[in-house]
Amino acid sequence: MNRIGRLRDRLGRIAYGGDYNPEQWPEPVWEEDLRLMKEAGVDLVSVGIFSWATVEPEPGTYTFGTLDRVLDLLADGGVAACLATMTASPPPWLTARHPEILPTGADGARMWPGGRQHYCPSSPVYREHAVRLAERIADRYAGHPALALWHVGNEYGNVAPCHCDVSADAFRHWLRERYDSVDALGDAWSTTFWSQRYSSFDEVLPPRSPAPFANPAHAVDYARFSSDELLACYLLEKEVLRRVTPDVPVTTNFPPSLRPADLWTWAPHLDVVAYDAYPDPHDPAADAKVAFSYDVMRSLRGGQPWLLMEQAPSAVNWRARNAPKPAGAMRLWSWQAVAHGADAVMFFQWRQSRGGAEKFHSAMVPHGGPTGRVFEEVRELGRELAAQPALAGARAPRADVAMVLDWPSWWALEQDAHPSADVRFLDAAWAHHGPLYDASVACDVVGPDADLSPYRLVVVPNLYLVAEEAARNLERYVEGGGTLVMSFFSGIVDPHDRVHLGGYPGPFRRMLGLRVEEFWPLPESGRIGLSQGTGTVWSEEVILEGAEAVEHFTTGDLAGRPAVTRHRYGRGTAWYLATRPDPVTMRGLVDRVREGAGVRPVLPGLPGGVQARARVTGDGPCYIVLNHRATPVTVHLPAPMRGLLDGADAADTVHLPPRGVALLRSAD
Ligand code: GAL
Repeated sequence: MNRIGRLRDRLGRIAYGGDYNPEQWPEPVWEEDLRLMKEAGVDLVSVGIFSWATVEPEPGTYTFGTLDRVLDLLADGGVAACLATMTASPPPWLTARHPEILPTGADGARMWPGGRQHYCPSSPVYREHAVRLAERIADRYAGHPALALWHVGNEYGNVAPCHCDVSADAFRHWLRERYDSVDALGDAWSTTFWSQRYSSFDEVLPPRSPAPFANPAHAVDYARFSSDELLACYLLEKEVLRRVTPDVPVTTNFPPSLRPADLWTWAPHLDVVAYDAYPDPHDPAADAKVAFSYDVMRSLRGGQPWLLMEQAPSAVNWRARNAPKPAGAMRLWSWQAVAHGADAVMFFQWRQSRGGAEKFHSAMVPHGGPTGRVFEEVRELGRELAAQPALAGARAPRADVAMVLDWPSWWALEQDAHPSADVRFLDAAWAHHGPLYDASVACDVVGPDADLSPYRLVVVPNLYLVAEEAARNLERYVEGGGTLVMSFFSGIVDPHDRVHLGGYPGPFRRMLGLRVEEFWPLPESGRIGLSQGTGTVWSEEVILEGAEAVEHFTTGDLAGRPAVTRHRYGRGTAWYLATRPDPVTMRGLVDRVREGAGVRPVLPGLPGGVQARARVTGDGPCYIVLNHRATPVTVHLPAPMRGLLDGADAADTVHLPPRGVALLRSAD
């Protein structure tokens, strides 16, 4: 059995728990913690994420006493540990002795200790100390009965890339490996422009706040490099853990923003993907947005269940205004993660801190103690999840729709000096994913060079940067009979941010049957009329070269010109959106395209605001139905189903209270 199979066997259910920071509390509190964990059905906690200074109070001196007692207590209490390597936050003695490990911003200003995650990932000094600590921890706890999973670092990339001199050296080394000669670098970075020609790699710096504007190819390479440097830190620690504890799975928790690291390059190095999600209760689209992230997580390792490593039991502390989760929302959003393939529901954090920057961040056990609504909901959810062991390890069926996501394209898209500052990747992704989500259509996420043949529909919200081979991959998919939807400002540049010449969108022109003459971005919050609805953000002058116009612009200088086109190409169809239709119009369009492609919702006829997803257990599909509305709703089912949460008899309708959840299985 592989490492993850063993972990699943050991937990035997959807894991439940959170970050546990007992070093912030006197020991008598720990006894209460264990008692309350049992009451709440907690079976997995992340320990020691920020314990470096506790465990190594002086260089090379290790005081494991606290952690020994905590882990023994957990083992005795039947709670497994996701044990951190503790390298996320260097202790003061390290930064005092080696200030050169502190990260430097793009403006050249050094970040100082006093917060956390203040290290330069390229620093050999940081790496050496981190690996040494990881090794000591692995040696100490190999074979400990509490140890179930390794948690390396914390949210790599949560701090902006470092631009210090050590990073500069490492970047030059990275560039030498990538480009054989400085002339090849010059060609890739278009350095004949603005007199940027380098005569030696030694002259290259990180893109430190240049006089406007930065060379975009330089900036995108720096984003690639920064992702690789963080990955190198993770891999150094992972190597040690593998050597000492070959049977214990290793992971790290990806930060909510998704953006800093190219997760396609990271995913193969994790035994299981883990993610931290903090949807904003003030945002009416929070559930739709986080659903996209969950689809990314499930897709990173080909549909393997992933771990929701952190979420807030109620409010966070780091937004300008921090809304609590209203009654039922925490449970609903937790089940949403499970519906999208999560095998763990965990929180930041177990007990609310008394001091420090996160004292107003909610926790499973709040300042007021285990008496109020938050703890009650925590306890209830723990009980509920424990009663559904069959879900653990169950995969979601493969979706019929795939959405294309590519990190270098994302980074390149968001450089300066583009036609519009309003074209942001996540906005585009949400605008295309939202209508699928609203219709309860399952969606996988893939890279542009993935095998697309299993999918009936491929959606490309924006692929600004694309290599010729990847573009051919999408084209072949359509030629072979696939349906593809692509939005504007795709296929514009090559991997070095150089324009694909010969007319936009270069490598997609043949497939789309059109040419784009000029971009006409809209003014801030501007709208443009469409034959049905309105367009937002963007418009452009499309010249048809085989495609037919399905929608036209109806206002402004582009009135009468194509706004949405369709092109039959090979055995398939390629749609193109020359604007971003408003959400209602977009929903109509996406429904039309996906129905044409034969893509059906997970359950048919669900009312608005109600989502369904499936996971396939040994007994067949289990449907998780989520009412995201604050009002009750009755759902009509295509066949009689039994309720697994409430033990309801088979029926062809199910009543969901406000923010209610049902777990359903076919009656036969
Ligand atoms: C995460 C972090 C946790 C905690 C949490 C608060 O980004 O990993 O340590 O700070 O945010 O929301």
